[in-house]
Amino acid sequence: MLITIADVLSAEQVAQARKMLAEADWVDGRVTAGYQAQEVKRNMQIPEGSPVAVQLGEMVLGGLARSPRFMSAGLPLRVFPPMFNSYSGGQTFGTHVDTAIRQVATTGQRIRTDLSATLFLTAPEEYDGGELVVEDSYGTHSVKLPAGHMVLYPATSLHRVEPVTRGARVSSFFWIQSMVREDSQRTLLFDLDTAIQRLALVQGDQSVKESGVQLTGVYHNLLRQWVEM
Ligand code: NI
Repeated sequence: MLITIADVLSAEQVAQARKMLAEADWVDGRVTAGYQAQEVKRNMQIPEGSPVAVQLGEMVLGGLARSPRFMSAGLPLRVFPPMFNSYSGGQTFGTHVDTAIRQVATTGQRIRTDLSATLFLTAPEEYDGGELVVEDSYGTHSVKLPAGHMVLYPATSLHRVEPVTRGARVSSFFWIQSMVREDSQRTLLFDLDTAIQRLALVQGDQSVKESGVQLTGVYHNLLRQWVEM
């Protein structure tokens, strides 16, 4: 399942992030790439654990914590501290699958990467190219979102970032270890939760209310079967 989450950051937060990133020191993105990804990765990053990355990362995590859609779709157990990258002058990240396990540099904690996230910090009209292209069992998806919006997709999928041929594409990227490892199970739970939330809006119908209670029970009993912590 590939889903977008609107307004993880406000326009003011995006502007603050852009200002801090413009003044920060950037390094070659290959520092965090695995052996295969080093061959195809051409971008710049803010060093993991640097003060700017930590401060802006907390802003991103705050945005996620306020998003019921992120909680429902991701069922997060651990979130990798958000990182920041930039593509310009034809830079690109060729087709790859993300590393299965990531270790947080500052704490040594290991995270299984079930979900990958890209939070866009530049508006689509500011640059040409730079689409995130994700291949999954339902086909190929090309993603380019407004600043402050985020896409969440299975880390198991092949994906790439198309060359940026004008302007710069700045974004935050990170991974999530979910309480539910399997994408197909997370998708069922998300669909069920979405339907339950919609039922909850129906007022005054006793049978709808009872169905809502029963389906909520099904949701929690499925989650109980599938959850790992
Ligand atoms: Ni990737």
